[in-house]
Amino acid sequence: MHGSAGLTKEQVAFSEQFQPGGTNRPPNPLVMPEGHAAVNGGCEQCHAVGKPNDDGTIGTCTECHSRHTSSVELARLPSTCAQCHMGPDHSQVEIYSESRHGIMFAAQRTLLNLKADPRTLTTRDMFVPTCATCHMSGINGLKMTHNPSDRLSWYLANQISTHRPNYLQAQINMKQVCTQCHARDRIDRVYSNAELVLNGTNDKITEAKNIMDGLRKDNVLTGPQFTQPIDFLFFDMWHYDGRTSKHGAFMGGADFVQWHGNYELLRKKIELQHQAEELRREHGRR
Ligand code: HEC
Ligand code: HEC
Ligand code: HEC
Ligand code: HEC
Ligand code: HEC
Repeated sequence: MHGSAGLTKEQVAFSEQFQPGGTNRPPNPLVMPEGHAAVNGGCEQCHAVGKPNDDGTIGTCTECHSRHTSSVELARLPSTCAQCHMGPDHSQVEIYSESRHGIMFAAQRTLLNLKADPRTLTTRDMFVPTCATCHMSGINGLKMTHNPSDRLSWYLANQISTHRPNYLQAQINMKQVCTQCHARDRIDRVYSNAELVLNGTNDKITEAKNIMDGLRKDNVLTGPQFTQPIDFLFFDMWHYDGRTSKHGAFMGGADFVQWHGNYELLRKKIELQHQAEELRREHGRR
C-alpha cells in the first residue's frame, strides 16, 4: 500500500521472497488523491495485520485471536477473517456464505468442536471447513500454518493472474486439505474448472488493458491515474469484477463467477469501448 516506505531493507527483502514486486514498489496510486486521513482510517486498518512490529515479530495476533484468551475458536470463525476479507474487491466472506461450505457452517455450527486443540484437530471436530480450515489449520495431522500463502497457487488478486513461484507445492498442500473430506477426482475437477474461469478472466482483462494502453500510447489519455472516468471503469473491471469471478471460481461461489463477475465484465467492456471511442473523437477535434 505504502510500498517500501517506512520499512528497512531487510524487511523489504523478507517480504519480496513471498511476493516479488509486492513491497519493493512505490506507494499505491490511490494514496495521494485520497489523502492520508482516508488511508490511515481505511487501508491501514486492514493492511497493518502483516506489518513487522518493533520487537522483530510480524503481524497483529489480536486481529484473529483475542487479546486476553489466545482463542483458537475465534480464529476459526469466518466472521473473524471477514473483518477484512469482504466487499467487492475481495468478497471472500460473501462467497463463502453462499457456498455449500458456508451454508453447512451456518446450519451446523453448534455441532462443530470449534475449541479443539490445534495439535489433535480432526475432521470429526470440524466436519465443515471454515476459512481457517482450508488456509491455516493442520486437520487430521496435516501441518498447521500461520502463512496463509502456503496453500495458494495463483496470484488471484492481481490484474492479470499468474502462477505463484510455489504453484505445484501449494496445490498439493491445499488439495491435501480438501481430500480429508472429498474424493480426489472431484477436487481436481474443481481446480481445472476454476482455472478455465481464471484464464477467461485474464483474456477479458487483457483486452481491456490493451484499449487503455493504446489510449495512453496515442496521447489520448494523459496525466496521472484516477483523473478520468475511464480510469475508474478499468480499475473496477479488474479490481472488482475480475477478482470476484476468480475468487468465486475457487471457493464455490457460482453467483459471484456469473452475476457479480462475468456479467459485469461484459457490461463494462462495452462501456469501456464506447468511452474509448468518445475520447479518440474528442482528441481528433483538439
Ligand atoms: C476492509 C479491509 C481493507 C481495506 C480498507 C483496504 N484493503 Fe487492500 N486488501 C485487503 C485484503 C483482505 C486484501 C487481500 C485480497 C486478496 O488476496 O484477495 C487486500 C489486497 C490489497 C492489494 C493487493 C495485494 C498486494 O499487496 O499486491 C493492494 C495493492 C491493496 N489491497 C491496497 C489497498 C489500498 C491502497 C487501500 C486503501 C486505498 C486498501 N487496500 C484498503 C483488505 C483491505
Ligand atoms: C490471520 C489470522 C491469525 C493471525 C493474525 C494469528 N493467528 Fe494464530 N492461529 C490462527 C488460526 C486460524 C489458528 C488455529 C488453526 C487451527 O484451526 O488449528 C491459530 C493458532 C494459533 C496457536 C495455537 C497453535 C498450537 O499449536 O496450539 C497459537 C499459539 C497462535 N495461533 C499464536 C499466534 C500468535 C503469537 C500470533 C501473532 C504473531 C498469531 N497467532 C496470529 C490464526 C491467526
Ligand atoms: C485485520 C485484517 C485481516 C484479518 C482479520 C484477516 N486478514 Fe487475511 N489478509 C489481510 C490483508 C490486508 C491481506 C493482503 C496482504 C497483502 O497481500 O499485502 C490478507 C491476505 C490474506 C490471504 C492471501 C495471502 C496471499 O499470499 O495473497 C489469505 C489466504 C488470507 N489473508 C486469509 C485469512 C484468513 C483465513 C483469516 C482469518 C483466520 C484472515 N486472513 C484474517 C487482512 C486480514
Ligand atoms: C473449502 C476451502 C476454502 C474455504 C472454506 C475458503 N477458502 Fe479461500 N481459497 C481456497 C482456494 C482453493 C483458493 C485458491 C487457491 C489457489 O490460488 O490455488 C482460495 C483463495 C483465497 C484467497 C485469494 C488470495 C489471492 O491470491 O488473491 C483469499 C484471500 C482467501 N481465499 C481467503 C478466504 C477467506 C477469508 C475465507 C473465509 C471467509 C476463505 N478463503 C474460505 C479455499 C478455501
Ligand atoms: C472439513 C471437511 C471439508 C473440507 C476440508 C472441504 N470440504 Fe468441500 N464440502 C464439505 C461438506 C460437508 C460439503 C457439503 C456436502 C456435500 O455436498 O458433499 C462440501 C461441499 C463441497 C462442494 C459442493 C458439492 C456439490 O455437490 O455441490 C464442493 C465443490 C467442495 N465441497 C469443494 C471443496 C474443495 C475444493 C475443498 C478444498 C479447497 C473442500 N471442498 C474442502 C466438507 C469439506
